[in-house]
Amino acid sequence: MSRVIALAMQKGGVGKTTTALSLGTALAARGRRVLLIDIDPQANLTQGFGVDPSQLEYSVYEVLLNPERGSAFATIRVDEGVDLIPSSLLLAGAELELAGRVGRELLLRKALRTAHETYDYILIDPPPSLGLFSLNALAAAHRVLVPLQLHAYALKAMPQLEQTIDLVREINPDLAIGGILCTLADRRTGLSHEIERQVRERYGSLVFHTVIPMNIKLAEAPTAGMPIHRYAPGSAGAQAYRALADELESRLIH
Ligand SMILES: Nc1ncnc2c1ncn2[C@@H]1O[C@H](COP(=O)(O)OP(=O)(O)OP(=O)(O)O)[C@@H](O)[C@H]1O
Ligand SMILES: [Mg+2]
Repeated sequence: MSRVIALAMQKGGVGKTTTALSLGTALAARGRRVLLIDIDPQANLTQGFGVDPSQLEYSVYEVLLNPERGSAFATIRVDEGVDLIPSSLLLAGAELELAGRVGRELLLRKALRTAHETYDYILIDPPPSLGLFSLNALAAAHRVLVPLQLHAYALKAMPQLEQTIDLVREINPDLAIGGILCTLADRRTGLSHEIERQVRERYGSLVFHTVIPMNIKLAEAPTAGMPIHRYAPGSAGAQAYRALADELESRLIH
């Protein structure tokens, strides 16, 4: 049975996509079978693997439109042990197309029914806005992984996310935050440390011990169309995501 984790934060540019990509590939390097799902019209996760979203036969768009077909038909292999359901340009129009459909928040959940035997982890990367795609991601997930950018207003966005999770529990009762990940930590300033202290004081053991530093290699890798473990395996960014994969697995086991 796979563990389905949705990245979520109703704020852009906090490291959701970077985390889905880098954590997913790090889990695969540990021998886990990983499925990544790009349910964001920006298609950043898809492009991060060097896949051109305009050249795809199938994408998450067709999966949402025909959930009874399952998801395997739209799945492509992007790295060793890593499969991807890519996004496409068509996805931008899907929100309108599906507006009148009953159960439209549950389409992804339905499509993934047959994937649970195939994967150990399914990581879902939604857009920052709270719309149909984010709701589909949260409705399909067991746990939410929250990337929190260590800057002055880091904690401000949390109450809104917690309200959203409460709402989604009406259709997915067991949904809970599985972990909070401090990202984009700038160790040259004292501010990062101070914010991190506040986050840990407020959320305790929910906060991963691992902190993701600001690392230029993590920003460059998507432009090269490569996951960090291929682009710069020795970088601080790659090391941090390997440590996160270790920590996630030890948390789930104990
Ligand atoms: N630890 C890091 N160090 C340096 N750059 C980073 C790091 N994490 C992410 N970035 C860069 O910051 C930008 C935003 O990151 P990312 O795309 O992962 O955020 P996101 O939350 O998915 O954004 P969106 O809400 O738009 O989907 C990207 O250009 C990414 O390459
Ligand atoms: Mg993103």
